[in-house]
Amino acid sequence: MSTDRSTTVIIFGASGDLTQRKLIPSLFNLSRKKRLRRKLAIVGYGGTAFSEGEFSGHLLAGARQFANFEFTDDEWASFAGMLHYVQGRYTDVADFRRLVDTLDELEKGQPNRLYYLATPPTLVPSIVDLLGLTDQLREDGAWRRVVLEKPFGTDLASAHKLNEQVHRVLHERQVYRIDHYLGKETVQNILVTRFANTIFEPVWNRNYVDHVQITVAEQVGLEHRAGFYDSVGVLRDMFQNHLLQLVALVGMEPPASINADALRNEKVKLLSAIQPIDGEQVAENSVRAQYRGYRQEPEVRSDSQTPTFGALRLFINNWRWQGVPFYLRSGKRLPEKHTQIIIRFKEPPLAMFPMSAEKKMTPNMLVLYLQPDEGIHLRFEAKAPDTAAETRSVDMEFHYAESFGPTAIPEAYERLLLDALQGDASLFTRADEVETAWSLIDPILRAWEAKESPPLALYEPGSWGPPEADSLLSRDHRAWMHEEARRMLQT
Ligand code: BG6
Repeated sequence: MSTDRSTTVIIFGASGDLTQRKLIPSLFNLSRKKRLRRKLAIVGYGGTAFSEGEFSGHLLAGARQFANFEFTDDEWASFAGMLHYVQGRYTDVADFRRLVDTLDELEKGQPNRLYYLATPPTLVPSIVDLLGLTDQLREDGAWRRVVLEKPFGTDLASAHKLNEQVHRVLHERQVYRIDHYLGKETVQNILVTRFANTIFEPVWNRNYVDHVQITVAEQVGLEHRAGFYDSVGVLRDMFQNHLLQLVALVGMEPPASINADALRNEKVKLLSAIQPIDGEQVAENSVRAQYRGYRQEPEVRSDSQTPTFGALRLFINNWRWQGVPFYLRSGKRLPEKHTQIIIRFKEPPLAMFPMSAEKKMTPNMLVLYLQPDEGIHLRFEAKAPDTAAETRSVDMEFHYAESFGPTAIPEAYERLLLDALQGDASLFTRADEVETAWSLIDPILRAWEAKESPPLALYEPGSWGPPEADSLLSRDHRAWMHEEARRMLQT
């Protein structure tokens, strides 16, 4: 393929929030870093009646508010030269033909095109159909790719139907399904930690690991998304995608190479090995809860059963993980925003060091802090000075900000957009991966929506969820370890 072929990024939903907050600041930063091709055009398509000047002004206001980097007027002016706007509907073939006319005027020769669907999910089938109908997806020397935002379906059946619709006009290799967690540096670092070091992998299994805890806690509530969130809830919003992706990365076998197929094959294998939680097992292995006051939020139904907090206990049926519980939890209006993975190792087989009555030897713990204060901490035991042989827990730490500088971590969308432009699908979810994840979530959803299993618990905003979430672990003689993890951060 010729290297000077021009590329166009077409953003559907160009007047929306995602474009202003994430997509344009990310493309702008990539352009400042000179990571984009010289011949790049960005065409926004949306329902709002913007002139091109107004569109660019709207995006500049967004960049000033949301970009996590400083920039000059000249830098913006040079980026803004790439921006164009087409007003149109998402269900009208005549509007899509006008889009094609605009693209034909802008582009020279046979350009590559990346279509980004930053629209509500209900519009995806129509947009994909119209792209096919107006012959925009045929690869004739140049590539054509489509990026789809989450949520991808609302259950297994709808995800499967959507995949079928998409595959009617696109090959799977042209489809890039976003899970923005995979764009986070610290999430990519899970595989680097495991497979670029020899010290972790030999102990990363049922012989040494007691259990794994994954917490994605949010301090925020609904943030003006009540209409969407109340029909979705935490299991669809966070578990089907982000949390199961984290489980896959922590649990998967090393792929033979880091290419998209090899990597995603291993993730699918791991997801397929998770023991489904079905029927009566749902009450025993899951907790669903809602924060007090949720039903009084604007646009929330006054009898809403939508869970804003969930916790699951999963087992993975393979040689590496048999019998090791993975405890997952996520919720809104919790005390703080943090995403962390705790690998809790087993106790030494023999307690040979005499401890005083009030001290206890604590098992090793590896904490991957995905956000904020991104880094990794390893807790291990050391001899307490001036005692006969007592031990104390000490901590070895890596902080991204210290090692790479305070602004080293880019916005997740930068990496994802660049990868989609470069044709690397490793950080995007494949059709079978999405469906496998839904097949795990579906039976839990069915039980939760039957309203009796388990009952919807309530929790105070600003707490760590309901007591039922603690019981999920205490029944196994374990406990959530966020307090220990926080102490490690503060030392
Ligand atoms: C989104 C969910 O996918 O992830 C939101 O729809 C949630 O409800 C968000 O707030 C959390 O992402 P992050 O990157 O802030 O952890």
